[in-house]
Amino acid sequence: MFRLDGKVALVSGAGRGMGFGVAQMLARQGATVIVNDFFADRAEAGAEALRSEDLKAFGATADMTDREAVFVMVKHLLADHGSIDVFVHNAGIPAQGWGYTPFLESPPSEWDAWLQLNLHGLMHACQAILPSMIERGWGRIIAVNSDAARTATGMGLCAYGAAKAAAIGFIRNLSGEVGRHGVTANALSLGTMNNWEGSAQIARKTASVKRAGSPQDVGAAIVYLASPEAEWVNGQVLPVNGGSIVC
Ligand SMILES: NC(=O)c1ccc[n+]([C@@H]2O[C@H](COP(=O)([O-])OP(=O)(O)OC[C@H]3O[C@@H](n4cnc5c(N)ncnc54)[C@H](O)[C@@H]3O)[C@@H](O)[C@H]2O)c1
Repeated sequence: MFRLDGKVALVSGAGRGMGFGVAQMLARQGATVIVNDFFADRAEAGAEALRSEDLKAFGATADMTDREAVFVMVKHLLADHGSIDVFVHNAGIPAQGWGYTPFLESPPSEWDAWLQLNLHGLMHACQAILPSMIERGWGRIIAVNSDAARTATGMGLCAYGAAKAAAIGFIRNLSGEVGRHGVTANALSLGTMNNWEGSAQIARKTASVKRAGSPQDVGAAIVYLASPEAEWVNGQVLPVNGGSIVC
């Protein structure tokens, strides 16, 4: 079950963090994985790490907020690999860095950065990739999202949460347009993950499973949504959060 042999998966922002775990789990299920990142060295190192496990992986550098760069990358990938069967939009934290900014101090340029990556990046990639998925009658679009879209963290995440909520609205509506073509569009809502300092302490307080989430937790859920067996799951947001929010 959940095998992905013969499928090609593109994962954005996969040079490190959750995205790398997603790429690794997809490749372990047999997919050929394209490790995208803003930074060429991260994309190449990620792909190399997978190849060292005897998995099929290639690096692809592109800024997901740059529409032209995304279209060029997709064109090359389709020419080289024949298809992109699974697209995971994982890149969601701007490469230029970010901080917690209370709303009243946050400049519109910061709101734009979150929206450009989490919403427009996803939409650019979907417009580039979907025609080929629809033509083949099979595809999986999966957006990595966050519980910040549906909670009041009080941690200066207004613009981030708003951008993530917008991406969920997009995924839900998209699912209604692509399902009839054999393509599904879903999202994951992540809780506190283990790649930042202090996360273990927060997760112990908020999650009923007393640890922060790992890249492999994310990858396992994505393998399911990407698999042929998840054909009837469409337009959904799957929480992967250790039980910290249960509705
Ligand atoms: N870490 C958490 O606690 C947490 C919680 C909830 C949701 N999430 C979501 O999980 C996803 C991954 O987060 P992470 O913590 O692994 O991030 P990360 O910062 O560790 O890694 C993200 C990668 O994306 C790349 N990237 C950034 N901007 C890019 C762009 N424009 N084009 C291509 N690549 C780009 C970065 O270079 C980096 O390698 C994000 O969507 C984030 O919102 C994370």
